[in-house]
Amino acid sequence: MKKTLGIAIALIGISAAAVAAGQQDDIIKMRQRLMDSNGQAAKVAVSMLRGDIPFDATVAAAVANSISHDNAVVYDLFPDGSDKGDTNAGLEAFSDKAGLKAISLKMVADAKAAADSAAKGKDAFAEAFKAVGANCQACHEKYRKS
Ligand code: HEC
Repeated sequence: MKKTLGIAIALIGISAAAVAAGQQDDIIKMRQRLMDSNGQAAKVAVSMLRGDIPFDATVAAAVANSISHDNAVVYDLFPDGSDKGDTNAGLEAFSDKAGLKAISLKMVADAKAAADSAAKGKDAFAEAFKAVGANCQACHEKYRKS
């Protein structure tokens, strides 16, 4: 028991050191993962709207809710210093954090509205999802390197 605890503490020590060394890289990866998830969610939604896969109201609501949840946290993952490294975030993401956060928060609401519309059917979801796509584009144009 004592031995196991000692090993566990040693492991925590190692991972804490690793986090300190590559702190910003891990934050960059985290926001990119959330964005990858946004991309995957949008792909599922678009595939259903195009008819490549059948429209399923439950899945449509889930992917829109996923985009909403991601955007409720992603804007806090742009700390100073994380503009350097393997990132495509543009400089404006750091100089205008309030602007980026405003688009994220608009996305939280618009994606939630799209999720709520899914139960009304494909046409209603398609209409509501337009605002979601517009937010992706608006934020990328301003805050991502093209
Ligand atoms: C509030 C701003 C904002 C919104 C909204 C936004 N993005 Fe992004 N996105 C970014 C930024 C900034 C990056 C670059 C992140 C980096 O490389 O550090 C990015 C990167 C990405 C990437 C590449 C991730 C990677 O692995 O490097 C994908 C895919 C993506 N976004 C898809 C989407 C989709 C789809 C939507 C809409 C559903 C969306 N994004 C909405 C700001 C946003």
